[in-house]
Amino acid sequence: MGSSPLKPPRGTRDFYPEEMRARSWLFARFREVAHRFGFEEVDAPLVEHAELYQRKAGEEIVDQLYHFELHDRHLALRPEFTPSLARMVIARQGALRFPIRWFSIPQCWRYERMTRGRRREHYQWNMDIWGEPSVSAEAELLAAIFTCADLLELPRDALRVRLNSRALLEESLRGGVLRDRPEAFAPLCVIIDKLDKVGAASVQEQLADAKGPVGLSAGEAEDVVALLSVKDLDEAKRLAPERSEAMAELERLFELLDHYGDADRVAFDASVVRGLAYYTGVVFEANDTAGELRAICGGGRYDRLAETLGGKPVTAVGFGFGDAVIHELLADQGKLPELPRRLDAMVVALDEGQRDAAIALAGTLRERGESVELATGTPRLKRALTDADRAGAQRLYWIGAEERERGVARARDLATGEESEHPLEGESEHPLEGESEHPLEA
Ligand code: HAM
Repeated sequence: MGSSPLKPPRGTRDFYPEEMRARSWLFARFREVAHRFGFEEVDAPLVEHAELYQRKAGEEIVDQLYHFELHDRHLALRPEFTPSLARMVIARQGALRFPIRWFSIPQCWRYERMTRGRRREHYQWNMDIWGEPSVSAEAELLAAIFTCADLLELPRDALRVRLNSRALLEESLRGGVLRDRPEAFAPLCVIIDKLDKVGAASVQEQLADAKGPVGLSAGEAEDVVALLSVKDLDEAKRLAPERSEAMAELERLFELLDHYGDADRVAFDASVVRGLAYYTGVVFEANDTAGELRAICGGGRYDRLAETLGGKPVTAVGFGFGDAVIHELLADQGKLPELPRRLDAMVVALDEGQRDAAIALAGTLRERGESVELATGTPRLKRALTDADRAGAQRLYWIGAEERERGVARARDLATGEESEHPLEGESEHPLEGESEHPLEA
């Protein structure tokens, strides 16, 4: 059952000019926030060695890899940017001055089951800080997410972040059920990340699967799942080990968020652990408050990824913010702007004999930085007016034999209908400067 080669593969998108305008509009906001927070943009290849992604904790993302063999190499389309970023940092680890703040907007590929806002390719705005061990980095990143939500003009309560600390969960479990098996922690997180999707009973079953990577007893699995229901920092503190470092960090983070004016937009939620194996500390997800869509953004601290990939130890924290779910939320909230084509002017030669003058006029306007479509044909004036209007042009300039004779181009402002004349440079002996509405050499 072949699919038509004339359609884009399922789950992927073509970007026609109108979709491309919407995408550029969104990316401009991502870049604006990154700029305000002092991040520099980076990129990496779309295709990487598949090995870069082959982690063994049972993550969904590994099963969803688009990968292929080519000339004895096993390659993959990037499903996320973080491993590429780690590779880039490791390659210059001796020369970089930490902390570094880098952002990117890569296209990522995952063979996903599709739901609203989830597709097989998406663009993901990433912001990462490397080399800052304190939660002041997490606070900066969370503030950037809220700045973006504000810049997109979402109501303050439309998006909220749920946050937890894997380090806190690890402290609790290391002192108990995972005392002798620290390696089971990452697969345990990957399993409990599915709680919302598959429910408590299935998570417990997987945690207690004797052949699985975690292998708890049924009672232990039940205790772990019970821990996840805590939604209050004070309650979490009561349950945390004494003098818990992870708890102290969480408290500090909430204090910092308060200074940013964002503490009310973040809630502690012990069930947030994230589905990627490399996270080690604070983890967070942003969702629409109505809870109708999948995660808008997800991130956290991954202090051991550099080592895992063969680099020297260096701390890191970051987030990925997809383009697809936020698009759905903006549409639901009526916050997607009308983005018509923007064209300052259309210039038309009414016959081929006037093309040289039209080229010169378009050149002058373009030199001023205007966006100008020089009609490649020689339409009649009526047709040119309709074309210019449809193209969203502000003004139409036309030059026919009669205008040329007088050394002018005529122009119409398409919004007001007002007409004016403009001297053609180097042609008119008596440039009509006084009469010109838009003198070219103003
Ligand atoms: P992630 O949670 O897998 O994290 O993805 C981050 C965000 O990318 C999601 O919240 C969602 O907005 C978007 N996203 C992911 N998959 C899809 C999809 N199939 N369709 C549409 N949107 C999607 C990461 O990828 C981490 N590498 C983020 C990170 C950066 N952590 C630290 N630094």
